[in-house]
Amino acid sequence: MVEAVSLVKRFGEVTAVDNLSFRVEKNEVLGFLGPNGAGKTTTMRMLTGYFTPTSGEVYINGISMVENPREAKRFIGYLPEHPTLYPDMRVEEYLRFVAELHGVKRMKERLDYVREVCSLSPVWSRLISQISKGFCQRVGLAMAIVHNPSVIILDEPTIGLDPEQIIETRNLIKTLGKEHSVILSTHILSEANMTCDRVMIINKGRLVGEGTPERLSENLRKKRNISLVVGSEVAKTLFSGIPVEIQKQEKLDDKFRLELSFPAEEDLCPELVRRITEAGISLYQMQEKKPTLEEIFLSLVKEAL
Ligand SMILES: Nc1ncnc2c1ncn2[C@@H]1O[C@H](COP(=O)(O)OP(=O)(O)OP(=O)(O)O)[C@@H](O)[C@H]1O
Ligand SMILES: [Mg+2]
Repeated sequence: MVEAVSLVKRFGEVTAVDNLSFRVEKNEVLGFLGPNGAGKTTTMRMLTGYFTPTSGEVYINGISMVENPREAKRFIGYLPEHPTLYPDMRVEEYLRFVAELHGVKRMKERLDYVREVCSLSPVWSRLISQISKGFCQRVGLAMAIVHNPSVIILDEPTIGLDPEQIIETRNLIKTLGKEHSVILSTHILSEANMTCDRVMIINKGRLVGEGTPERLSENLRKKRNISLVVGSEVAKTLFSGIPVEIQKQEKLDDKFRLELSFPAEEDLCPELVRRITEAGISLYQMQEKKPTLEEIFLSLVKEAL
């Protein structure tokens, strides 16, 4: 379990992380989503004890990272933004070395496990200096999980991977999230959508939105957009007295496509249908256009500015 309380990090004039609080349970994947410079890496560095917070607290399984860093760090596996690997070591040798540092007991079992789940077989005996960037990223991931830590912190885990590996890594993260606390950062909205139970949208060090990917798209939209296909043209007066706006009306072959919007507080759909049918207009299709996480993200970031 990870708990962050009012985390702040300042670098001179720059407030990189501005009062972030959150909690991640042991069967949960939390995603930090935000543009470049949002403060994702800085937050992760405070969680892992690499940076001391300017103020605020970090607890890993109840142990304070500020007061007992050695003890707290034992529970953590960390894939940093730029993993440092020893170029003169072979992949297996290096992971064995990392595992030894962590005091891993069932060495063979753990090495077999990371070789398998991080798809490292093709480079297992190769020198790190001679493997490609994507494989280095996979070695970094293996390094983060080889000691089976209860808290796994991954800074942009899929960056530099090929499409097949991206899918495998996302699946691995989901599996890890069943029994560990996982925190990952990404700029890729679809990635957050696919792998995270909960997302925190961060901009300029501040929290600008939080929730499950679905809840974010439901709660944070202020307007609902409905698209309809009807039999004849609809006059504006049909919606008089209710806050419905006609955004667009276009003629299809023998029908009309209508785009309507109304404030999200009140569900006006039944009233819309009633007015349309009572006017003798045939209703062929009705569909809600839900904003994508991408659209919500952009509108939240814009609002925060
Ligand atoms: N060691 C440092 N010294 C001074 N400023 C720093 C330092 N590390 C980060 N910053 C500043 O803190 C802010 C947040 O940076 P951070 O690296 O945490 O962002 P990020 O969300 O990880 O961005 P990216 O998506 O580009 O990785 C930026 O303005 C950055 O310039
Ligand atoms: Mg970063």
